[in-house]
Amino acid sequence: MGSRRRPWVSALLALAAIELCCVHGASAAASFGDNFEITGAEDHVKTSADGQTWYLYLDQKTGVGFQTKQRYLFGWFSMKLKLVGNDSAGIVTAYYMCSDTDAAPQRDELDFEFLGNRTGQPYIIQTNVYHSGVGGREMRHSLWFDPTADFHTYSILWNAKHIVFFVDKVPIRVYPNDAGKPSNSFFPIAKPMYVFSSIWNADDWATRGGLEKTDWNKGPFVSSYRDFAADSCAWPTDSGAPPACAAATGDSWWDQPPAWALDEGQREDSAWVGRNLVIYDYCGDRERFPAPPEECALRTTAS
Ligand SMILES: *[C@@H]1O[C@H](CO)[C@@H](O)[C@H](O)[C@H]1NC(C)=O
Ligand SMILES: *[C@@H]1O[C@H](CO)[C@@H](O)[C@H](O)[C@H]1NC(C)=O
Repeated sequence: MGSRRRPWVSALLALAAIELCCVHGASAAASFGDNFEITGAEDHVKTSADGQTWYLYLDQKTGVGFQTKQRYLFGWFSMKLKLVGNDSAGIVTAYYMCSDTDAAPQRDELDFEFLGNRTGQPYIIQTNVYHSGVGGREMRHSLWFDPTADFHTYSILWNAKHIVFFVDKVPIRVYPNDAGKPSNSFFPIAKPMYVFSSIWNADDWATRGGLEKTDWNKGPFVSSYRDFAADSCAWPTDSGAPPACAAATGDSWWDQPPAWALDEGQREDSAWVGRNLVIYDYCGDRERFPAPPEECALRTTAS
């Protein structure tokens, strides 16, 4: 955010800190293996000696990913990522939530995708929402820092009123449901999701629309992770039955009034993002959508 100072502390994040002790979900001190299983080549994942930082490796042979052992329905999901540095053109690191595609192929999904670039050129962060197997809700933003220099926090707040994508404490995108009015029929609301991440080669589209190809001589490409937190109601792994805490309870701060709308500081930040960082917004793409999708009319923020 450049040199702008932001003295406010979000009520939401303050609440999150207070409640962290008392709700289900993962604690920051848990090690990789407590929360996740590897999907793909096990030898392409490394963890630090204390188990608190883990690394995904991509080489010309294969990429790799991980997913949570549990599914979650609503909540606050957060992780620190440090992206592939130097020459990362063609490489995409995806960090996302997705419903169980074995149980129902028509998936719901919430995506952060980090599109790499040539050395010194800026990353782009793409977000997307899928409902019942259909996506196409892409937004692309530039970032106000170099995401390869340090760890930054990328979070999703998901409740029945909206889904908010955060970068550090800044809401870069609000995807509304607006359950009071005629609500958004393209809103993921019923399917619990796992949290995933993966690193893969996407040089057919990722960087400058596919013009910049992956330089395998620069590999292996490594993305780094730590401090996963799921402040949520975990959904029992082998059960289709809704957990007792699916309905809002006193513990579920993520589905209480302060989490149903942005606070004043967040609205300011969101407007700043809308003015300065939006590269692409499907709601304004008349070629793809001659009539904007219904949820576009429910927006109350610029981003
Ligand atoms: C970039 O490359 C240099 C030289 O190979 C290496 O020391 C450094 O760790 C790399 N930076 C990142 C963020 O990967
Ligand atoms: C990569 O850098 C180029 C040149 O600055 C820029 O046009 C492009 O949007 C950047 N990001 C991606 C993902 O292509």
